[in-house]
Amino acid sequence: MKYSSKLFIYIIGGLLFICSFFGMIYYGYKTFYIEEEAIATKEYTYHFALISEEADNEYWRMIEQGASKYAAEHNIYLEYVAPQKADNDQLLKLLDRMISARVDGIITQGVEGRRFVDLALKGLDRRIPIITIDTDVKSSARKAYVGTDNFQAGQLAGETIIENTRGEQYIGIVMGRFEAINQQERIAGFEAAIESTDRIHVVGVQESNITQIGAAQATYLLLKEHPEINALIGTSALDGIGIVEGLQEIVPNKNVYITAFDILPETLQLIEEGKIDATIAQYPEEMGYKAMEVMVELQQRDLLDNQFFTETKIIEKSEVEILPWGDQ
Ligand code: BGC
Repeated sequence: MKYSSKLFIYIIGGLLFICSFFGMIYYGYKTFYIEEEAIATKEYTYHFALISEEADNEYWRMIEQGASKYAAEHNIYLEYVAPQKADNDQLLKLLDRMISARVDGIITQGVEGRRFVDLALKGLDRRIPIITIDTDVKSSARKAYVGTDNFQAGQLAGETIIENTRGEQYIGIVMGRFEAINQQERIAGFEAAIESTDRIHVVGVQESNITQIGAAQATYLLLKEHPEINALIGTSALDGIGIVEGLQEIVPNKNVYITAFDILPETLQLIEEGKIDATIAQYPEEMGYKAMEVMVELQQRDLLDNQFFTETKIIEKSEVEILPWGDQ
């Protein structure tokens, strides 16, 4: 054989050797890595799922934070899943998937309708406890509810308007979603509270799709149809902020009494600036933490007392100033 052909064979042989050597190291590492992960998963005490209304909503991220804190303290594996944009159909599919994945427990926003009730029964059947958080479905087989008493929160919103306004009030309501049970309950509570007076009238309701831009558009529609509106209430976390944005664009000088929901930093900022008059505080981190605690108890036994209301209260400018984050 010629010298050049020998050299060629040696080079090819050498290259093949180098490739298989690195291939072996790479696949060996991958196998080892997966094994390590599997072992780590086994070390968790439980695997729970948290299903929220919308993945990157600030309010739901706070619920997740509270739940993750508990998970880290108790060596629990917590999986956070949600539709990208609020969508009941997608949420229900995720719930079904988590039941099929046989997690140890599911904490989820409650959703209106038969499908949720059926899925809660499916969970029960497979011995997977389901807890509703933020929004309850009392008629379902869920094992517990953790969150705001939404009817009472709506009543608080009514009380602020009764106490802080004088004369006839024409109210426009911006709600998160027409089909969300917690939003319906808040409005029912609000209407029950204002029944005690005949100077406060609800003249229109629009939905924001739980987005700030949606709330600004809803405000525009309300004012276009009912120019007499002199008070607005936003019943989900970004509605108050969107209402302010909408008003600034359409009627910047109109004097409107604004009540919001939740204590996101921007809402508190707007209260400090006098652009929002009051907000109904909810405590999402507490909800997340408490729901995990209840879920762990449910791994042992059913609970007699299965409604855990977290705090709600009215926050106005005077309170924002004394809150630790008030001057941020
Ligand atoms: C409600 C949640 C909703 C969120 C939207 C909160 O006030 O409790 O149900 O997803 O607002 O931003």
